[in-house]
Amino acid sequence: MSRPVGFGTHKVGLFNSVGAPGVGMEFSDAGSPPARPDMASESALSPLTLMRRAHRNQLVLCDAIEDIADRLPGNADPIQCLRIAGMLVPLLRGIHRYEEDVIFRSFESLSPDAESSARSIQRLRAEHVEDECLADEITEALLAIGHGDQIRNPEALGYMMRTFFETTRRHVAFEREHILPLLAQAAKSTSAA
Ligand SMILES: [Fe+2]
Repeated sequence: MSRPVGFGTHKVGLFNSVGAPGVGMEFSDAGSPPARPDMASESALSPLTLMRRAHRNQLVLCDAIEDIADRLPGNADPIQCLRIAGMLVPLLRGIHRYEEDVIFRSFESLSPDAESSARSIQRLRAEHVEDECLADEITEALLAIGHGDQIRNPEALGYMMRTFFETTRRHVAFEREHILPLLAQAAKSTSAA
């Protein structure tokens, strides 16, 4: 079931290429450029807050890609396709690097079960790689649609998009269930100390 996706009210937080907390981007429905990044305020956010934001942003992207998939082959909005094409890979890569460099290390040190957390991290890292590969291919297709090219195999493209948003939603759900509670608990203990 598709839902209309507008970007007017969504903040899409990005992380920069070195994995540090990056910028918040706000997209207007008219497709205007992102608002000026507020680096100072975002760099002050905790890993827990950034992780929650990263999850929300990934789910917004999933909704947007689902919306495009539902409109294939002939009704996808070219401007929306170009907008998603421009942010999909950088957003995912930034989030994945931040998780791998910062969040997973915290998770490993906080987890009471080292073996299980190591297994989870290995799996999550592998999913990051798969998601980035899919995102590369989806980006190429979105650029083609955005530039008015004919979609040669809409069924295959729709399947690829659905695989992406379904696996990404499952990935986010797993991290929310298994990683965020430990980060939240640690943040609570730190603030109580
Ligand atoms: Fe992740």
